Amino acid sequence: MDFKTLKDFDYKGKKVILRVDFNVPVKDGKIEDDKRIKASLPTINYLLQQNAKLMVIAHFGEPKQPSPEFSLKIVADRLSSLLNRTVIFVDEITGEKARAACSGIKEGEIVLLENLRFNPGETANDESFAKELASYAELYVNDGFGVSHRKHASVAGIPKFLPAAAGFLMEKELNALSFARDNPEHPFIAIFGGVKISTRIKLIENFLKRADKLLLGGAMIFTFYKARGIEIGKSIVEPDFIEMAKKLLEQYPDKIVLPIDLIDAAGLKVGSEFHQVDFYHMEPDKIAVDIGPKTVEHFLEECKNAKTIVWNGPMGAFEIPEFAVGTNKLAQGLAGLNGCKVIVGGGDSAAAIAQIGLESSFYHISTGGGASLTFLEGTELPGVAALRESLNKFR
Ligand code: 3PG
Repeated sequence: MDFKTLKDFDYKGKKVILRVDFNVPVKDGKIEDDKRIKASLPTINYLLQQNAKLMVIAHFGEPKQPSPEFSLKIVADRLSSLLNRTVIFVDEITGEKARAACSGIKEGEIVLLENLRFNPGETANDESFAKELASYAELYVNDGFGVSHRKHASVAGIPKFLPAAAGFLMEKELNALSFARDNPEHPFIAIFGGVKISTRIKLIENFLKRADKLLLGGAMIFTFYKARGIEIGKSIVEPDFIEMAKKLLEQYPDKIVLPIDLIDAAGLKVGSEFHQVDFYHMEPDKIAVDIGPKTVEHFLEECKNAKTIVWNGPMGAFEIPEFAVGTNKLAQGLAGLNGCKVIVGGGDSAAAIAQIGLESSFYHISTGGGASLTFLEGTELPGVAALRESLNKFR
């Protein structure tokens, strides 16, 4: 890696500012899933054991302005119970209270500052905001893989002013995703789903060059079906991508594998009547909501000898339980493969696996949705570029 990693610095008595991704799902004031908080515990525990003076920074949601519903207080409480020690929560990011808490911090103490996005300087990547945050500390660590695709002040700005290192989670994510993207063992299969081809076209193009087979599901397949002149009912199509889909099908006829059957329904809502249909037989007034059982079997047959699989995006409208069957059955089949490393991009596919409790059966499930997608597309993450540049600056 061309940047520093956690063990490269001596933290004893040093003020360390740690960027994490604690953007967790919250409903009715309760954290629904604390996976992202737990994922950074190894880094936090290491820094505390090394007697660092630890200041943690994070964002939560996309607040238009500071408001209690976007406060990180709830996360501070959960972190405190997970660590079994006091986490000093400061309801400011900059200002008197924040400065006082950060200057008075003692060895082995941990402070969590308020939601970075309460300050517009964060998303604007404002240099003076980054400089002010950097002034609290002597070293910077980025463990927030899930936000590393954002060119924000706490991700891309602070490392301009401080020596920087990647935390354990960041390193683990980059190792697993680099293996899948750059150095997979073959046979290597990519499975992509999701609604829009437009948001995954770079990913598809990148993996058509690298993978032995590319299995496609989710609503984006209808643009491919349309390109083949097949009836797709009321399913979603992106007309601007029909030509592109046609070209890819011509260029990679043996590599692209499309579903052979589908579940179609009267509507995309709970309680809609639905049936399994072969893909030539979709009715014009129906919408496809999931892949069918024949497709699941066919996809798993394609995967049975694979050594590496990368999976990103659900196969259907998995948030509606009746339409999650294809995604769930695929997840179960992938979880049961022997001798194959299955790497799952975060976001919806990770949520689908979590829903059925199979997380421990996968080689790697990313904590970052947009970040893993950006990385797998082949685009350098601003958070990683910033770590690299920091190494050059503070050699
Ligand atoms: C995420 O939830 O994917 C990350 O925390 C990034 O959040 P964002 O999409 O609001 O920038």
